[in-house]
Amino acid sequence: MKTINRQRFDFSTLERSVARGATALAVVLAAAGAAHAQAQNPDALKLYQRGLAATCANCHGTDGQGVVGTGMPVINHLSSAEILKKMLDYKSGALTGTIMHQLAKGYTDEQLQTIASVLGKK
Ligand code: HEC
Repeated sequence: MKTINRQRFDFSTLERSVARGATALAVVLAAAGAAHAQAQNPDALKLYQRGLAATCANCHGTDGQGVVGTGMPVINHLSSAEILKKMLDYKSGALTGTIMHQLAKGYTDEQLQTIASVLGKK
């Protein structure tokens, strides 16, 4: 009979790998975005901006509308300015949480501005 290795779930490992994944994706998107912006293709620029904002969707849902049953905060009621302020506060350490203060450090201020402008309440 096969033995199943029932390791205890280690949330901190998941947290670290999610943070690393988001950072890596943001770096790839930033490189792609720079190339596209150079090409001055408005569709590519929009795709880059939405792609950057999509790095938040795993937890906050598409366009920040939340994911049912996860208990993650819904953020689509916040304005762009509110989202940007929170992200910069997480990044500087003025705000802390379980994960956002780590995640925010993976983005440049410019990327956070882009993300806030895409996700902020219109
Ligand atoms: C791995 C899951 C995860 C990802 C990915 C994630 N968040 Fe969060 N977010 C959280 C959690 C959990 C909180 C609550 C604070 C905490 O515990 O860190 C939060 C809180 C927030 C808040 C504060 C909400 C409030 O009402 O105060 C904002 C704004 C936010 N996140 C924006 C973002 C943005 C923008 C991104 C993408 C760059 C992002 N988050 C990516 C899990 C995540």
